[in-house]
Order: sequence, then C-alpha cells, then structure tokens
Amino acid sequence: MESKRIFLENIEDFLGIFSGALTNCLLYSPNHPQTANLMKRAFQILRFILDDKLKINIVVVENKLIVEDIVIPSQKVFVSNLIKKLRRNGIESLTFVRGLEFNEFENLIKDLATRIEKEEIKKMVSTAHIKLGIIDISFQSSYEGKGEVKSEEYGKIPDFPLNMGNYLGLIKEIFDEVKKKRKIEISGLTKIIVNFLLAIKKELKPLLILAPMKRYDQYVYTHAINVGLLTCYQASNLGFSPEDIKEIGLAAMLHDVGKLFVPLKILNKNGPLTEKEWNIVQNHPIEGAKFLLEAEGITPLAVQVAYEHHMKYDLSGYPKPKYKKQINIITQMTSISDFYDALVSKRPYRKPLSHEEAIQLIYWKSGTDFNPKLVSNFLNIISK
Ligand SMILES: [Fe+2]
Ligand SMILES: [Fe+2]
Repeated sequence: MESKRIFLENIEDFLGIFSGALTNCLLYSPNHPQTANLMKRAFQILRFILDDKLKINIVVVENKLIVEDIVIPSQKVFVSNLIKKLRRNGIESLTFVRGLEFNEFENLIKDLATRIEKEEIKKMVSTAHIKLGIIDISFQSSYEGKGEVKSEEYGKIPDFPLNMGNYLGLIKEIFDEVKKKRKIEISGLTKIIVNFLLAIKKELKPLLILAPMKRYDQYVYTHAINVGLLTCYQASNLGFSPEDIKEIGLAAMLHDVGKLFVPLKILNKNGPLTEKEWNIVQNHPIEGAKFLLEAEGITPLAVQVAYEHHMKYDLSGYPKPKYKKQINIITQMTSISDFYDALVSKRPYRKPLSHEEAIQLIYWKSGTDFNPKLVSNFLNIISK
C-alpha cells in the first residue's frame, strides 16, 4: 500500500514535469535552459522509478490517463495537456523501459512538441527503451477547412467582418444565469469562440473586431469577449491547434467569472475602496475558481486561469502562492489580454488609455508582471 502511494507520488511528479517540458519546448525552444532543466528533472524521476520497475506503461483511454493500473486524477492540470499531446500524435500508449537513455527521452519530447507546433502527420517511431502504441490517425488541421468548425454545430456563422459586439446580449444572458443560479451555459460561449477561430482564420486584425464598450455597465461582458479574443489570437500565433484554442478561449473568457459575485456597488465605485471592499474584490479569483470547479463541462484549465490571473510573472499580485510555482502559460497569456483590455476600457474611476499608452505600459511591465516572450507575441498580434 505504502509503495503504491510512493509510486503514485513519483509518477505524478514525473508526469507534471514531463508535461511542463513539452509546453516549454513548444513555447521557447528545446535548448532553452528552462526546457532543458525540466527535461533533466523529468528524466531523473523516471530513471528513479525505473530502478524499481522494469517498465512503466502509460495509456490514454478516452479522457483518462492510466499508469500501470492507476487512473491519474483528472483534476491534475497536466492530465489533459498530456492526453492531448499524445493523442495528437496518435499515441495511445507509451512504455518506458529500464535502460532508458537521456537522448531517447529528449528526442521524444522534441518530437512530441514540434509535431504539435507544425501539425505534421508523421508517424512517430518506438526506440529501444520507449515503446509507442500508435493508433492509426490522420490528424488533419481542421482549421484549414476540414470540418472542425462546423456551422451546423453552433448555428449560423455570421458574415464578415465579424462584430463581437453582437455577442454582448448572449454573454449577458449567460452571466445573469451564473449570478442568479450559479449555473453556466457553455454552448453559448463555444459559439462565440468559434467566431474567434473564424476571425483568426480570416486574418482579421484583432483590434478591429474587439467588442466596443458603449456603457459602463457593459464592461463585464465586453471584457470577457475581448480577453477571450485576444488570448485566442495569442495562442494561434504561438502555434496552438484550433482544438486547444477552443479550450483556451473558454478559460480566458471566464477568467473574471468570480467578479459576478462581487456587489456592483463595489465594482463600480467611483472612488477609493475601503479595506473591506478591497478584500472582497481581491477574493474574486478564488470565488471564480470555486464556482468553476463545481460547474459542469469546465476543464481544469479554466479553474486554474480564474485562480491565477492576478498573479504576476514575478509571483507578486494575488492570491499569494503558498510556494514558488510556475503560473500556467495560458494564465500568463490571459493576464496580458486582461491588462490591455482593462486599460483601454472606460472605468468609472478613470479615463480609458489609448492603444499606444496601453502597449507602452505592457512593455514596461515585461519581465516583472508579464512573461517577456509572451509580451512580444502579444505586441506582434496586436500591431498586425
Ligand atoms: Fe480579475
Ligand atoms: Fe479581468
């Protein structure tokens, strides 16, 4: 029993770092020190586990990750990430065998990550100590018009140019339901995200299609749309697939869902907040994460983004992390979109900043509040 618990702890450590190495490899490069460090750490744990066991078998069954006969709890953030990355390469099982060499492991990570980036359809091959169980898939980027974004699935797709302001009413309905019944209608949000994907595909300039804010009380709706839209553009520019972008867009749109539980008189207060009011506002990431955790159809990513979106790159901000952690890369992207849209929107307590002023501020905060790589990616998409 005890040895099973230790095995599970080690395997979860390994899977978490393995997943982080894949994400870093995709985001930075295989040779970036952070990626190299994660690869080494993952390899060390794996070798340690293989000291005890001749082989470790990891299988993907539907949306479950099973190691030996243990189902890894799906609320672990890395589970969906790993499943997607394996599945995208047609891998349904992965067996590591004792004697594994670092370069075999390193190549596996590079292969898994670069194939995702380029969306190639090549079969990966087993090596002496890594056995791949491959299902015959022909992964096609449906983004190129192979049917992933189906109009029948989501209703009629509007003509271009898209006006995201058309969706304010829909967002209002969805958010009102959250406030009143603590229930969320995902399909409405998915419909909006499909339009983000179409806008990206049509190479529309994101600035031209942001939802315009006409009245103060619309901020919560325009903000959700705009943060979702800008984060989807960032993700697309980084090479994430349309399927991933749908999940990312949903998480980004829901980042401030906790604010729906903050009284409007505090949110729209035209003056400094009292300490008590400020505490209530600062609690919105926790309230949002709690709500999403219980909501149906919500992925762990959305819970994490809601929880982390006010944590800064240097880990200042709120809530204060209890230990030094790495903020999810999707949260880091969402935080930039969040900051930009908040700055250029009218607020009761200040005038909106111009696009140039907002960009300047983001640039200044690069390296402290925001991940510099993601800032340059953001500046890249926003100045297109
Ligand atoms: Fe927020
Ligand atoms: Fe926000």
